[in-house]
Amino acid sequence: MNTAEIKSISDQYLFPTYTRAPLALVRGEGTKVWDADGREYLDFFSSTVVTVVGHCHPALVAAVEEQARKLFHVSNLHYCEPQALLAQRLVEASFADRVFLCNSGAEANEAAIKLARKYGHSTGGGRYEIITALGSFHGRTLATIAATGQEKVRVGFEPTQDGFRYVEYGDIGAIEAAVNDRTIAIMLEPILGESGVVVPPDGYLRELRALCDRLDLLLILDEVQTGVGRTGAMFAYEHEAIEPDIISLAKGLGGGFPIGAMLARNPIAGSFDAGSHGSTFGGNALASAVGLAVLDTIDSEELLENCRAMGQRLRDGIDALPGSKVESTRGKGLLIAAVLDAPSAPYVDACRELGLIVNSTGGNVMRLAPPLTITADEVDSGLEILGEVLQ
Ligand SMILES: Cc1ncc(COP(=O)(O)O)c(C=O)c1O
Repeated sequence: MNTAEIKSISDQYLFPTYTRAPLALVRGEGTKVWDADGREYLDFFSSTVVTVVGHCHPALVAAVEEQARKLFHVSNLHYCEPQALLAQRLVEASFADRVFLCNSGAEANEAAIKLARKYGHSTGGGRYEIITALGSFHGRTLATIAATGQEKVRVGFEPTQDGFRYVEYGDIGAIEAAVNDRTIAIMLEPILGESGVVVPPDGYLRELRALCDRLDLLLILDEVQTGVGRTGAMFAYEHEAIEPDIISLAKGLGGGFPIGAMLARNPIAGSFDAGSHGSTFGGNALASAVGLAVLDTIDSEELLENCRAMGQRLRDGIDALPGSKVESTRGKGLLIAAVLDAPSAPYVDACRELGLIVNSTGGNVMRLAPPLTITADEVDSGLEILGEVLQ
């Protein structure tokens, strides 16, 4: 099928819940993807910040093939080796003591919200309110749209789940002012991803940790977008040398295979026991095998180092485009925003027409998040197209 045919069937039969560009991808390899009409593109968006080790990485393909020949799925009423090994690996790589595996970012956040509430009940007092940030994005389920600090995602779905309060991102004083005797947790993205790669002031996470310790609150970090190497550290909280109480992961964890995870430390993790939470597919054998392969690949190919180096190269290259539409850049590692002096959407379309996939988070922000495997030559090829479009 060509792009027009795929588009026509999709437009007829799928709910129109996404604003799609006229692009149907059929093949990928590393940073490169090909559309149904045979055109090649550089994917500087990792298909929504997901394909962290590039498209169809041979180690991931091998993990899928090997596990698929053995067993796709194991009931969570039984034990499953890849699931056990993935949980062990995530605990060893992080602050956490326990892992709950699920299938997406929203589910990982649901698990985090439930765990915080359960902890509020099990420690007495039944504290349940969670403070989140204006402009945050935590998912599309009913609890996560309530957690999301954007009115537009809740409109038409009222009454929404209560128990969330929203404060200005990056402002510790605003959080402290919002705390009351019902507050159990603060839940934040280390960098606001969907709202335009907004990086908080240096020291924000450290101050948050201190505030949570002082007021006996849980610190939940939504690392769905920033986790698994995207910012040049395995988890973004490492940049400020703090340890949160709970984090959520998804996107990069499966490198394109659907998986999510909620990680927590003791004693908070102890609030979940048999029957507290569950998911038929969570930690599915195939998904877990791929998750392990992603973590192995990040280590064996030293991709955190590459992420930092290529992130710097890309950002420096954008900053150096003379006389361009770019007013400033921001971000960490390979999660980068170019803030333009005009709405970004037409420039994103123009990049795609020249063979470069980037993203508009709305307004003037162009988001770039290539795979951690990107090479210097690929960065430079992308910069050439950006130069052509933005200068
Ligand atoms: C920070 C953050 N949290 C949660 C989500 C929701 O993840 P999912 O779409 O996998 O449910 C996203 C998705 O963009 C995200 O960026």
